[in-house]
Amino acid sequence: MDWGMKNRLAQLIQNDGRALFLPIDHGYFQGPTRKLEEPGKTVKPLLPYADAIMLTRGILRSSIDPENTKPIILRVSGGTSMARKEELSHEGITTSVEEAIRLNASAVSLSIFVGSEHEHESLLNLSNLVNECEEYGIPAMAVTAVGVELEKREARHLALACRIAAELGARVVKTYYCKEGFEKVVRGCPVPVVMAGGPKVESELGVFEFVHDGIQKGAIGVNLGRNIWQSDYPVAMIRAIRSIIHENATPKEAHELFNEVKSGKKK
Ligand code: 5RP
Repeated sequence: MDWGMKNRLAQLIQNDGRALFLPIDHGYFQGPTRKLEEPGKTVKPLLPYADAIMLTRGILRSSIDPENTKPIILRVSGGTSMARKEELSHEGITTSVEEAIRLNASAVSLSIFVGSEHEHESLLNLSNLVNECEEYGIPAMAVTAVGVELEKREARHLALACRIAAELGARVVKTYYCKEGFEKVVRGCPVPVVMAGGPKVESELGVFEFVHDGIQKGAIGVNLGRNIWQSDYPVAMIRAIRSIIHENATPKEAHELFNEVKSGKKK
């Protein structure tokens, strides 16, 4: 592996082999998502606790101070919207690798839609992106998307999508956690796996439990958005999740930390 690729991966995946990526890219097809209406304001207090942020070039340029030194994972696929849910899998590449280099991105990310109408197109998008990224030493992260078909978040489907993403050259794969068989999803994927959170769930403890379980089963961390920044206590949430990822906290310990930060007992 070339120095540039190794260096960029080292910016993303920390010395302990773990990673906490904070995605704020949702607007690229959802528009002004709840609590992400002003992404710059949402992300500012969370940045110190994230290992990298994932976003589009438009939000990077408009909402993030160029003096920021957190690694950037630039979303480079899109072209669809929630107004045409049946077309969500019909993404193309929206941003060139040259632009990613200009923006000093540490990685790029793109969605693949295995099992959807536009599976073939999205997989070729990934392959073409990897062909270009490898020339410049930029890691491509594949986002195994399910669109609105949340029921696809089960091991057999996720394992299929993750393995294909790795086979096509993704350096990191983002997938969903599933309670049954998640270890098989990770075992079948020869590159690091990070977990997304999906729509916000009611209980904080539920989030801590799934993050903890996913890590025990081999994920290196998360690429988790709504369950952090849609919380009423986003800083407490990200700090608790960070303690699971980087300090091996149990869900109970993470929950205690959440409550301490929430109540102001812990600064
Ligand atoms: C949106 C994405 C998100 O970055 C990913 O789904 C993680 O966010 P969340 O935890 O809110 O699901 O790729 O398409």
